Amino acid sequence: MKKTLIKNARIVTDMKVFDGDIYIEGDTIVEIADSISAKSGDTSIIDVEGKYVLPGVIDDQVHFREPGLTHKGDIASESAAAVAGGITSYMEMPNTIPQTTSMEEWQKKMDIAARDSYANYAFMLGGTNDNLEEILKADTSRIPALKLFLGSSTGNMLVDDVEVLKKIFSKVKLRIALHCEDEGTIKANLQKAIDKYGEDIPFDQHPVIRDVEACYKSSSQAIKLAQKTGARIHVFHLSTGKETALFEKKASLKDKQITSEVCIHHLWFTDEDYASKGSKIKWNPAVKSVDDREQLWKALLDDRIDVIATDHAPHTLEEKSNKYLKAPSGGPLVQHALTAMLQFVHQERITIEKVVQKMCHNPAILFDIPDRGFIREGFKADLVVVDTNNPWTVTKENILAKCGWSPFEGVTFKSRISHTLVNGHVVYQNFKVNENKAAQALTFKR
Ligand code: DOR
Repeated sequence: MKKTLIKNARIVTDMKVFDGDIYIEGDTIVEIADSISAKSGDTSIIDVEGKYVLPGVIDDQVHFREPGLTHKGDIASESAAAVAGGITSYMEMPNTIPQTTSMEEWQKKMDIAARDSYANYAFMLGGTNDNLEEILKADTSRIPALKLFLGSSTGNMLVDDVEVLKKIFSKVKLRIALHCEDEGTIKANLQKAIDKYGEDIPFDQHPVIRDVEACYKSSSQAIKLAQKTGARIHVFHLSTGKETALFEKKASLKDKQITSEVCIHHLWFTDEDYASKGSKIKWNPAVKSVDDREQLWKALLDDRIDVIATDHAPHTLEEKSNKYLKAPSGGPLVQHALTAMLQFVHQERITIEKVVQKMCHNPAILFDIPDRGFIREGFKADLVVVDTNNPWTVTKENILAKCGWSPFEGVTFKSRISHTLVNGHVVYQNFKVNENKAAQALTFKR
């Protein structure tokens, strides 16, 4: 069995930071102690010389585009970008072609990932207006959640039949992950923009079209329905201050019925950035005002928001260079999410313990992953070594996502990922992805 000893780590886990060594056998952390000696001659030693070692990030929302959209990205390319960014596990979304709305399509993705993925993987099942039977067949020990689009986005997966929604909320025991934006509001706003600008809608109109009310109306209706039916819902990518008032801090995350997520782009960018970035920051939901961003930060720090994710959603530069109406929403983020959050740690906006809580611990708790998300004896050795004082600049040359661009191009991050271990195996080290993969399918204990 492969043996690895990480020496001189500054370990961040369970809301603590402490110095120690980590001994790994196979895919499992066997011992954590002040000082551990190699137990045999065949132990590989990684001396991290006082660098931080964090649990691998668990990203609960990515779009890796396979099957059907592989000109934008695929499971191999995007999971390579993920491990380069310290993400060791991901949950992928169903808006591929074909859509992941049956167990048969779900199994096909699992088979591709077993062959190609660099990071541990799981695939959400998508709900539609007519696949409840299929949803109820789902193996809940292998599927993290059901995903519903309550607002149209890439892939036309809108669930807009209220009666169907009531049935899904009443019958589905899985956590239901939601994209909340009210379609009627968006359509009316879009028509107004077309009347005013014709085909030349400026990108800064995106948050006017996909506005605060569209988000609030959809999220608040979903929450009301969840309260009525008992459904456990997780509202993805909050983007407005107004929605943050809908969520509460609770003593136990495990028992929280209604939870929420914020994404990197909504914590970093604001509507002031459309002038310089244009379609590169066009996301659904839209990046909104400075005040919205500040309120998202407040809700994140006071635990009304539970999880930080990426919504990594690559499109080609060619697609993005279309005019507003044809430029798709979404952008690549997995490679830069953790380093972006560590930038905020440098700015003292958030502590490193809290970043680890929101990006590693909470996704594991929320989705019932029993053996990942923490650095603990008996847990899987998914680990990230970060050098918090080794600046580097994002350029086209060091981007791993297949689309080859990033909204962070030109940004100098102070921290860099020096090693990523997936199941005890070094899959990434100093800008190089190791071709030997060790990823596993995530399992859920329910
Ligand atoms: O901006 C987005 N792009 N938001 C989504 O919800 C979907 C995603 C995509 O798949 O392109």
